[in-house]
Amino acid sequence: MTASQINVLFVVSEVYPFIKTGGLADVAGALPQALLAEGVRVVTLTPGYPSVIDALPAGETIHEFPDLFGGPARLIHGQAKGLELIVIDAPHLYRRHGGPYHGPDGKDWADNALRFGALSLMAARIGGGEIAAFKPDVLHAHDWQGGLAAAYLRYGYEHGPRTVITVHNLAFQGLFPSSFMHLLKLPPESYSIEGVEFHGEIGFLKAALALSDRITTVSPTYAAEIRTPEFGMGLDGLLRVRTERLTGILNGIDYNVWNPATDPLIAANFDARRIAPRIANKAVLKEKMKLETADKLLFGVISRLTWQKGLDMLVAVLPTLLATGAQLIVLGTGERALERGFMDAARIHEGRISCVIGYDEELAHLIQAGADALLMPSRFEPCGLPQLCALRYGTLPIVSRVGGLADTVIDCNEMAVAEGFGTGVQFTPTVGMLEAAILRTTALWRNQRVWRRAQRNAMAADVSWRRPARHYAELYRELLAERRR
Ligand code: ADP
Ligand code: GLC
Repeated sequence: MTASQINVLFVVSEVYPFIKTGGLADVAGALPQALLAEGVRVVTLTPGYPSVIDALPAGETIHEFPDLFGGPARLIHGQAKGLELIVIDAPHLYRRHGGPYHGPDGKDWADNALRFGALSLMAARIGGGEIAAFKPDVLHAHDWQGGLAAAYLRYGYEHGPRTVITVHNLAFQGLFPSSFMHLLKLPPESYSIEGVEFHGEIGFLKAALALSDRITTVSPTYAAEIRTPEFGMGLDGLLRVRTERLTGILNGIDYNVWNPATDPLIAANFDARRIAPRIANKAVLKEKMKLETADKLLFGVISRLTWQKGLDMLVAVLPTLLATGAQLIVLGTGERALERGFMDAARIHEGRISCVIGYDEELAHLIQAGADALLMPSRFEPCGLPQLCALRYGTLPIVSRVGGLADTVIDCNEMAVAEGFGTGVQFTPTVGMLEAAILRTTALWRNQRVWRRAQRNAMAADVSWRRPARHYAELYRELLAERRR
């Protein structure tokens, strides 16, 4: 093992605070800084969406390409918000109004294969040593969008960096018709079971899982789950074959963004030694959300409203939740039917249930600081970040026992409470078990001494990036040592 600096190229399609649709952006925004402390320099390659280009006004052009899948492109290198970035400025691919993956009409961009094929190809060219400004030892792609980088390297270069793919969500696989082979400039021999082919299509994530030196995912439990047909989404067979190369490393949260002692977005700051001021946050939150003022157990939800997150099960158990006397705040956006379900409930049960449809970071902080418990009934959850923020803010996470939720919350069962260990509640994700979890949470709440102890335990848990960063640094070192042998 050497103490010398390791150079890593992150390949990622969203980075907080420039552009975000989910937890992937949070990871990309915070992990590089934590890795610096471990002797790892990360340069992040990301598409030049308008908000990203705007963030790099003083960036330097380090390379120009006359044609990148149908138009000119250049690579811009610069620093922003403590991150070192290489941005692909390719106006024909990225300079548009809408999200990173969808147009304003909510439909996938029709040329996503090329948009993220270009991200992968640029990654491979940097990885292959063609760009003087940065020659990485390790190319670390995140999710399917950078997945083809491993294929471009395997089929186009004799020598290259070691490669890592991190799976943040196996549900998104980047599948495209085989007719894109030519447009993506993939050699015909790569269209095979060992390469990019997946059930008659091109699989971006499949290619990375087959061809990368290491596979990681964002929790140890998810790493085990995805090797089973139940959670493997058709890729479990390949993941079983590659078991020796697959590990789980938990996510952390950015302590600069999520710190109840200094958070400027909440009404009253607090910490593990002084939890009492939380009550002021609860009062402000309830007033803002027009909830009745009597002190009731207040559940919060901060989530994408999709099947993954299991919130249809929460709609189904609202009568039980209301019967206990509890209150509920939902902040989220996603599937129309779920949005309507929560909006209807809020209208019918005014003062008891409140709902904000949309993305609102400030409100997310206030919910973390003012709610008593945070509900996450996910059907599957690679890691999950809101439960980590909840722990840090003394909001007890009530979570299904899957993926990263299983790995980060300690259930307040009888024994854990007796021994003074618990930090939340876990349940099997079914309607019946969610109902039981709500009843158990209510019982815990009635014993404020036990509740306070659980809050203290929660707030004492280390959910920073320190430990995960150390694991990633170890993984990079192992990989580089393998090459030297
Ligand atoms: P996923 O990426 O699957 O959506 P994660 O739990 O990894 O789930 O990350 C979700 C991130 O997005 C967290 O930082 C969470 O606080 C945030 N978030 C989700 N929905 C909203 C919302 N409606 N408003 C504000 N923040 C949200
Ligand atoms: C994905 C997963 C989520 C995870 C996030 C960041 O969006 O759904 O569980 O926390 O990626 O790794």
